[in-house]
Amino acid sequence: MEYKTLGRTGLQVSVAGLGCGGFSRLGLGTGKSKAEAVALIRQALDLGVNLLDTAAAYGTEEIVGEAIKAVPRENVVIATKAWLPRGDGRHAAERAVTSLDNSLRRLGTDYIDVFQLHGVLPQGYAEARDVIAPVLLAEKAKGKLRHLGVTEAASEDPEHEMLERAVEDEVWDVVMVAFHMMHQNARTKVFPRTIANRIGTLLMFAVRNIFSRPERLATALSELTARRELPRWLALAPNPLGFLVHERGAASIVEAAYRFVRHEPGVDVVLFGTGDPEHLCANIASLLAPPLPTADRLTLAKLFGHLSGVGLDPPWGMPGSP
Ligand SMILES: NC(=O)c1ccc[n+]([C@@H]2O[C@H](COP(=O)([O-])OP(=O)(O)OC[C@H]3O[C@@H](n4cnc5c(N)ncnc54)[C@H](OP(=O)(O)O)[C@@H]3O)[C@@H](O)[C@H]2O)c1
Repeated sequence: MEYKTLGRTGLQVSVAGLGCGGFSRLGLGTGKSKAEAVALIRQALDLGVNLLDTAAAYGTEEIVGEAIKAVPRENVVIATKAWLPRGDGRHAAERAVTSLDNSLRRLGTDYIDVFQLHGVLPQGYAEARDVIAPVLLAEKAKGKLRHLGVTEAASEDPEHEMLERAVEDEVWDVVMVAFHMMHQNARTKVFPRTIANRIGTLLMFAVRNIFSRPERLATALSELTARRELPRWLALAPNPLGFLVHERGAASIVEAAYRFVRHEPGVDVVLFGTGDPEHLCANIASLLAPPLPTADRLTLAKLFGHLSGVGLDPPWGMPGSP
C-alpha cells in the first residue's frame, strides 16, 4: 500500500480507501451477509487500507465497528457522515449532533476521524457553514471528532458549486468530490483550490455503474451522441472504451477508471466500493499501478474533457447520491 498525507489534517492515509456505501454497501446491496461484510473490511485492512468511509445513511456503521475491533483504534481512519433533511433550519444543528452521537455508538468508538456533512447542496451550504459547522466544532473541542468534512451531492450539483465555496472556507479540512473519466471538471474547478488550501480530498464515483456495467455505459453514450455532445462512432462501437485496454495500458475498463483518478493531481484517497473479495484485491492493485499511458490520458481528455454530470447515479430512492 502507499500512503499520503490527507491535506492539513496531517493524517497518513492509504491511497485506496474502502467505500462502505454506494450500490455495493460492502456486499449488503447484493445480498451478502453482515459476516461477509466484516470479513471484506478485514481483508482490506490486511492489505494496508486504513481509511474506511461510511455514513449514517448506509447502514454499515455497525459493520465497520465490528471489523475494526481487530486492530488498534489509532491504526484506522474512520470517515462517516450525517445526512440532514434539507431546509431543516434551526433543527439542523441539533440533528447533526444527534447523528454524530449515534455514529459513535454504532461504530463503537469515542471519536470520528473525519465527520462529514453528507450531500450538501449549493442552496444548503450557507446553513451548513454558518449554523451546523459551529455546533460540530464545539463537539470537536469535546474530542468527539477530529476533522470536519463535507461531501457534494454529485448528481444534483455536477458543476461543484457547493465545493467551489467550501474549499475557500476554513472549517472543512476534507472534501469529498466526484471525478471520473467522463466527468473531469473537478480538475479545474476543485483540485487547484484544495491543493492551494491544503484541504484533503476523498474521491468518489471513480467507477460506479457507468464503468462496471457495459449497458449503463451504452445508454450514456447513446444519450450523449443524441445530444451531439460526443461523436456518433462512440455509440456505435461494440467496445467504445476498448482503446484503453492494451498491452502497455490497462487490463480492463474498471482498472483504467481507477488508475485514471488515482494519479490526478489533488486526489488524496480514491474510494472504491465493492462487496466482492476478488474485486477488492484487483482494485487495490489498480490503484497501486502506474498512471495510464500519456496517449490514453490525452484521448480521454480530448473525447470527454468537456462533459459534466455523466454517470453520477444516486442509489435508488435516495436523492442527492449518498
Ligand atoms: N455524496 C456522497 O457522500 C457519496 C456519493 C457516492 C459515493 N460515496 C462514497 O464513495 C464510495 C465509492 O463509491 P462507489 O460505491 O460508487 O464505488 P466505485 O468504486 O466507483 O464503484 C463501485 C461499483 O463498481 C463495482 N466494482 C468495483 N470493483 C469492480 C471490479 N474490479 N470489477 C467489476 N466491478 C467492480 C462494484 O460492484 P461489486 O460489489 O460487484 O464489486 C460497484 O457496483 C462509496 O462507498 C461511498 O463511501 C459518497
